[in-house]
Amino acid sequence: MTLSNSRFLFSAAGLALASLLPEQAAIAQSAAPATITVQVNKPGGAIPKNMYGLFFEDINFAADGGLYPELVKNKSFETDDHLIGWKAVKGAAGLESYIVSSDRPISATNNHFLRLSAKAGGADAGFVNEGFRGMGVKQNAEYTFSVYARRGPGSVSGMTVTLEETRRPGPGPETPPSGQALAQAQITGLTNEWKKYTVVLKPSATAARARLKLTLDGAGTADIDVVSLFPKDTWMNRENGLRPDIVQLLKDMKPGFLRFPGGCIVEGITLDNRYQWKETIGDVAARKPIINRWNKEFKHRYTPDYYQSFGLGFFEYFQLSEDIGAEPLPILNVGMACQFNSAELAPISAAKGPNAAGQGDEPTLETFIQDALDLIEFANGPATSTWGAKRVAMGHPAPFNLKMIGIGNEQWGPQYLERYEPFSKAVKAKYPNIQLVSSVGPSPDGDLFDKATFKMRELKAEFIDEHYYAKPEWFRQNASRYDKYPRSGPKIFAGEYAAQSVAIASPDNKNSWDCAISEAAFMTGLERNSDVVGMASYAPMLAHVDAWQWTPNMIWFDNLNVYGTVNYYVQLLFSQNKGTSMLPVQLPGNAKNGADNLFTSAVTDAPTGDVIVKLVNYSTTPRAVKVNLAGAKKVGKTGRALVMACDDLSVQNSIQEPKKLAPKEGQFAVSGSTVNYTLAPNSFTVLRIPAKK
Ligand code: AHR
Repeated sequence: MTLSNSRFLFSAAGLALASLLPEQAAIAQSAAPATITVQVNKPGGAIPKNMYGLFFEDINFAADGGLYPELVKNKSFETDDHLIGWKAVKGAAGLESYIVSSDRPISATNNHFLRLSAKAGGADAGFVNEGFRGMGVKQNAEYTFSVYARRGPGSVSGMTVTLEETRRPGPGPETPPSGQALAQAQITGLTNEWKKYTVVLKPSATAARARLKLTLDGAGTADIDVVSLFPKDTWMNRENGLRPDIVQLLKDMKPGFLRFPGGCIVEGITLDNRYQWKETIGDVAARKPIINRWNKEFKHRYTPDYYQSFGLGFFEYFQLSEDIGAEPLPILNVGMACQFNSAELAPISAAKGPNAAGQGDEPTLETFIQDALDLIEFANGPATSTWGAKRVAMGHPAPFNLKMIGIGNEQWGPQYLERYEPFSKAVKAKYPNIQLVSSVGPSPDGDLFDKATFKMRELKAEFIDEHYYAKPEWFRQNASRYDKYPRSGPKIFAGEYAAQSVAIASPDNKNSWDCAISEAAFMTGLERNSDVVGMASYAPMLAHVDAWQWTPNMIWFDNLNVYGTVNYYVQLLFSQNKGTSMLPVQLPGNAKNGADNLFTSAVTDAPTGDVIVKLVNYSTTPRAVKVNLAGAKKVGKTGRALVMACDDLSVQNSIQEPKKLAPKEGQFAVSGSTVNYTLAPNSFTVLRIPAKK
């Protein structure tokens, strides 16, 4: 559903050492170096420990089909159209019938299953599951197949489980022809009662688009439910674990926080469709899927088969945050469905609707507030508390140490403020140390933004969540956005940003170097002002190359591979080199950051003693700079440079060329407390200068 007001509609001098970067060696020297002064003797405030983080939303098949590696789509037949992802295989003599039944289900919450009846001699009659644009499987890796099954009338003794190669399904209703079997196993001994059967499959070859076939052995009827094919190779080898190659890229960034679960998915198209964290914890088999709000948002990227299984739920998000060393930052619904869609509102007063226990037809604001309070208890509460006990039962006795939550995603207007005020008061009353992130709407300027910002200052909000989706030039032009920002009052959470090469939500947007270098320029402005900008995250984080709705994205993957975009490497360089204290840095003539397309920020890093200077040269010519470390003592003789440079601003990484443009490391000489360095054309350079040892 897309409303007409939707934003989603679119209409070295001194490079004397041998190990120079190739780009540096090749470039010519420009005449007079630009002098940049870093005031090492006048350190500013501390860089927030969790300054650079991650934004996760289940968009672009980021969860099911992505980070969450379950290979069976719609494993419990609980989607609205119960057979999404499944197709009948008639077999030699025919599959007599199949129905989705609710006759004595495995549980009250998982109350649909598939009932199959095969004729005598009906070898190869059954069902196939297509996975998420196929199933990616690796040769000799192990995959745990499991199913709940029971037999009905007839003589079905079991079933054959086959993992087979397939071509991309064609447009017609026909099941694609069976391909080569990659692995096969037998399930035997079905009884009249539901029972879980497990077997390990080991593919004989690697395939990006395998499928899973279940065929009945014998004639008669059998019931199946909760069909799962899960790789054994998961992050930290967890049973319900995550895809390790993707998590590794996230961890490599050393992220300070993980924002989840979104994004607009928090809000839902309607309130019914909102993200309800309580429905995403506990037994994985009992979590009920709902439609993903991105499934039909874009007609040009229509994905009606997009559901949220919640196999990756709130427990798993907290666990992921802990695994990668990031502070968890859940964003919660404030009683408002997406204002670009239905804009449905939960009534504020309990008198107008059901009570906080959720009785009645519709939830009230109290329901949403209670959900937030319960979430904090789930994350931090003792085993003796109702919700803390649920976390402990899921295997995490220690608290997750939740320190902040977001109230609403991209909300605006009086409807938000009316709900935000009682919501924030209730949370602070019970949990005064929990920090709150507040929305100021979807745009970083304009009337709505100004009014919301003014109000949030008045309400003494702690963090305001600004979103910037704009052309690359906006990012360069706004590198000084916070230079004159009030130093007291709410801190900025740059909660969602990405340069859009064409237009917001255009399917033609690219993860180009032009976008990434412009984001780097902007980020020097965030870093120079990290006394007011507390956190920043690129958005969205993940996208499946065959199943995306939104572009650009930080990391792309297919069923077997993953790569970081050039934008990812910019984020990684900032995060890995964030340092511990700001240092004042001046461009020639005390010019504004970005003057003459030169952008810079500097920090000092207490653990290593390094002074770290970030420089963006958005220019087609090399640029000589002379970096003076004013007041620096004990400066080392050799520094380390991390450089991303490319003449071609349209360059992108890809599955085929995952590191076409990625940071390269080199060294440079330091003379006294001065570094003479030549920045390559269109480059982002991080200079690490040892200043203690
Ligand atoms: O990042 C994609 C979407 O952009 C987010 O869901 C939303 O918050 C913003 O409009």
